[in-house]
Amino acid sequence: MSKLTTVPNSAPFAPEQIQALNNVIGNVSLVQRAWLSGFLAGLDAAEAKPAIPAAPPTEKLKLTILYATESGNAEALAAQVRQDAIKRGFAPKVLDMGDATVDQLKSAGSILAIVSTWGDGEPPQRAAPFLRAFMSDAAPRLEGVKFAVLALGDSSYAQFCETGKQVDARFAALGAIRAAYRVDLDLDYEAPAKSWIATTLEMLAPKDASSVIHVDFQKSVTAEAASKTSPYAAEISAHHKLTSERADSETFHVELSLAGSGITYEPGDALAIVPQNDPALVSDIIAKLGMPHDPDLTEALTSRYDITTLTARQMKDFAALTKNVALGALADDVAKRSEFLAGRQMIDLLENFPSTIDPESFTSLLRPLAPRYYSIASSQKAVAEEAHLTIARLAYESAGRSRKGVASTLVSDRRKTGGLLDVFVKPNQHFRLPKDSAAPIVMIGAGTGIAPYRSFLQEREATGAKGKSWLIFGHRHFLYDFLYQLEIQAWLKAGVLSRLDLATSRDQPEKRYVQHVLWEQRSDLRKQLDKGATLYLCGDAKHMARDVDATLQRILADGKNEAVGQVALDALITAGRYKKDVY
Ligand SMILES: Cc1cc2nc3c(=O)[nH]c(=O)nc-3n(C[C@H](O)[C@H](O)[C@H](O)COP(=O)(O)OP(=O)(O)OC[C@H]3O[C@@H](n4cnc5c(N)ncnc54)[C@H](O)[C@@H]3O)c2cc1C
Ligand SMILES: Cc1cc2nc3c(=O)[nH]c(=O)nc-3n(C[C@H](O)[C@H](O)[C@H](O)COP(=O)(O)O)c2cc1C
Repeated sequence: MSKLTTVPNSAPFAPEQIQALNNVIGNVSLVQRAWLSGFLAGLDAAEAKPAIPAAPPTEKLKLTILYATESGNAEALAAQVRQDAIKRGFAPKVLDMGDATVDQLKSAGSILAIVSTWGDGEPPQRAAPFLRAFMSDAAPRLEGVKFAVLALGDSSYAQFCETGKQVDARFAALGAIRAAYRVDLDLDYEAPAKSWIATTLEMLAPKDASSVIHVDFQKSVTAEAASKTSPYAAEISAHHKLTSERADSETFHVELSLAGSGITYEPGDALAIVPQNDPALVSDIIAKLGMPHDPDLTEALTSRYDITTLTARQMKDFAALTKNVALGALADDVAKRSEFLAGRQMIDLLENFPSTIDPESFTSLLRPLAPRYYSIASSQKAVAEEAHLTIARLAYESAGRSRKGVASTLVSDRRKTGGLLDVFVKPNQHFRLPKDSAAPIVMIGAGTGIAPYRSFLQEREATGAKGKSWLIFGHRHFLYDFLYQLEIQAWLKAGVLSRLDLATSRDQPEKRYVQHVLWEQRSDLRKQLDKGATLYLCGDAKHMARDVDATLQRILADGKNEAVGQVALDALITAGRYKKDVY
């Protein structure tokens, strides 16, 4: 997909140079952009270090591929880099920030870091302890170490690629040598990542720096991962509402048949749904653009493109395409632009700045429609060739319009029993039951955060696991939205679940959440931790996860200061005994 770029007038160039630059890079594709970035970095490297001798051909250059991931994209890219690096004669080592210490960086050789951003501009949770140490005064100096950072993110978030940016800046601040400019990649990261990786490995390779520009441009643009491009059309074998009519929101239980697909999964994994946009919104957009009926465009806007977000780049590019001066001015003013973007989508841009543009130009502005992930709520030991999901229907108002979540309303409103959903498994190695089935577990969650725990309990029931299991579940009303109430109570009775604590937030005047239960039951929680329990947290990232983290820190500090609690919590994360699946 091509993206428009304009060099700001504040750039350190003469006006005619800015004009010339805009002529060249005004319409580069992401791949060309990544190539250009690598090329310029290569020129810098050549000028800065003209005298680096070529290494003997047999010598393998040490390369550490350091990654921080939540849902596995950075991890998959790291594996890809490793393969490429071996072919280019490096001795690569892949290192998960979740398992790394900052001291390892000193002897890491060159470092190629792949870092995603989560929450609202936060690091992936397993990487957080490493990054705290990396950002602290205690981090080692890294003079002489070459580094390059590939940042993964989603440009519809205000803090786009924030963690990657911070890591890049920190390497430089610690004295490391930037071998390639950072790239900040959006959800359609595969092709530009491949190109950047090739360029960066060229630059890190121990040979004449002028060779950095030899990127096999055509070869680098390849198809996306097979799982995304060829999802399985699973039939919905059961579909019912879990919440009562009086609940504040609706949550659905959906069973999918995987019969004959060969798809397997483990408790803790997620299922990705490749969604389709709301046909009413698609029609609305086509009407706003004044385009004639075109089945290809309708199909593209329904199945291929993200039409429900709006990014700063899209505002700028739309202004440039439609030569809309007022929109261009708004897009260039950071404060006003952020105010406009808040809660708005593409349809709002078309409504506020009506224009007619051709379908190709319009779709060139759009990002690909991303899959949505759902924690699998079943164990194959109990349900065999099925996967169960727990899906909350998202509907809200913003900027004076009612909005519907793309995937959750597709599943809630437009797909019923007998319908099909395109799916693939998104494994999550970091949210697994303990290997020792006799070890205790404490499952903390709210709302749809119950989903993976249903899979854990099905698994433990099927395997006759002996370990104690404690569920702390938060929801609004005992009577209206206690998801899977009957099953959970049956597991409690049968001893599959050893203990259940509920935090209903709206059954009494004062709000009561899972963190309140944790604090009240802190002495029991400490006992479970002393017995080797693994803690799990699943559900809302914005509020619940932060409050639970703060409470756990307070509990672990045991009357001492906050830092003591943080160190103890980091130790649990690093030991794989505090696992989060929050969104
Ligand atoms: C690993 C993982 C596991 C998950 N498991 C589950 C699960 O088991 N069950 C489940 O239901 N969900 C789960 N989710 C969340 C799920 O993937 C989707 O994000 C969710 O269903 C919304 O998707 P959607 O397509 O319906 O909404 P989208 O169309 O993606 O809309 C979501 C966006 O709407 C905006 N938004 C939402 N509320 C508001 C508001 N009040 N005001 C303004 N803007 C708002 C935000 O920008 C938000 O990003 C999980 C997510 C992850 C990453
Ligand atoms: C719940 C959630 C929060 C996210 N928050 C951000 C964010 O604040 N900034 C950003 O640039 N990307 C954000 N992203 C996008 C991810 O960084 C992006 O999907 C990335 O490819 C994930 O890589 P990973 O699988 O290696 O973790 C978020 C994604 C999800 C699902």
